[in-house]
Amino acid sequence: MYPLVKGIVALQAHVALPEGTFEEEHGRDGFYGPVSHLYRTHAPTAWSRIEGPLKPRAFNCLTTQPSAPTAILDRVPLLYNEDVVVHFARPTGPMPFYFRNADGDEIYFIHKGSGTIETDFGPLLFEAGDYLVIPRGTTYRLLPETTDNAFLVIESFSRIRQPDRGLMGQHALYDPAIVKTPSPQPIQEDREWEVQIKRLNEITSVFYPFNPMDVIGWKGDLTVWQLNIRDFRPVMSHRAHLAPSVHTTFQGQGFVVCSFVPRPLEEDPEAVRVPFYHRNIDYDEVLFYHAGNFFSRDGIDAGMITFHPQGIHHGPHPKAVESSKQKTATDEVAVMLDTEKPLRMTEAAQSTEWKEYYLSWQAK
Ligand SMILES: [Fe+2]
Repeated sequence: MYPLVKGIVALQAHVALPEGTFEEEHGRDGFYGPVSHLYRTHAPTAWSRIEGPLKPRAFNCLTTQPSAPTAILDRVPLLYNEDVVVHFARPTGPMPFYFRNADGDEIYFIHKGSGTIETDFGPLLFEAGDYLVIPRGTTYRLLPETTDNAFLVIESFSRIRQPDRGLMGQHALYDPAIVKTPSPQPIQEDREWEVQIKRLNEITSVFYPFNPMDVIGWKGDLTVWQLNIRDFRPVMSHRAHLAPSVHTTFQGQGFVVCSFVPRPLEEDPEAVRVPFYHRNIDYDEVLFYHAGNFFSRDGIDAGMITFHPQGIHHGPHPKAVESSKQKTATDEVAVMLDTEKPLRMTEAAQSTEWKEYYLSWQAK
């Protein structure tokens, strides 16, 4: 049956688009399933208005309030489904107690701030750009040395895994050897210590007359791990724009986390150099902007999240298509979360929303 070709098309996706057309990738299963490319005479994002709740959204996470050091745990949930919760935390200092999440694994992405994380397995130093992957059940405490901290936290109800590199080989994206793990460093401080354990979203406090970070050795393949986004080495093609799934950094049941880092744009003069339009029908897309110049998205700054729900189009802004012709590289750093199940927005997310974002594709 494949390939069916009808009408005026580009014979290879994202290359040499017919004059005056806008290419849409209409696909299933993220970028892995059956797919058609539609060559339109208008950008599918050039709507004049939208009535109803389904629209592209943008949230300014840095307008969530910084609060006490415990804000790491009083983190603000923004988006959630049955597999994953996206939180934002803006703690002002070290946690006075330890924490254990019995509900899920956690990925911290450090947008701002630096310090130490103490864990059962030993401490790690963290800085901006770090991913910290904390398996469910680990006892830990974050001790930022900075007061202006901003952490994106992805809570996963399944185990976080590294992606399958497949044909690219096991050292693609990031060499497993660049991943840091903690070494035991027991803390001897005999006073009362509290461990707050979250199970079914309820907190139980367990108290010890000694510091529970008393591990003097550990072995095995379950531990806390750390990767800085600057150590993510992207895969690209000089002749064709690749799907964002090539930047997969972590995965869990029902979602993937991808890292967008600076990379050269496609050199081939016929290759499209901006992301294609799509309506991402099987995945909700969440993008957190960490640093750099987000040239394909008008009005987006570092510390913001865009949320493109399944079923409605997104794609490059009108100016991005033009500016991509002059550029030779991207310099943006962003973290993407794609989820199979639709995400719901919390009230906290809506209170930080830039309500006009969905109109930002209108040509100015
Ligand atoms: Fe997308």
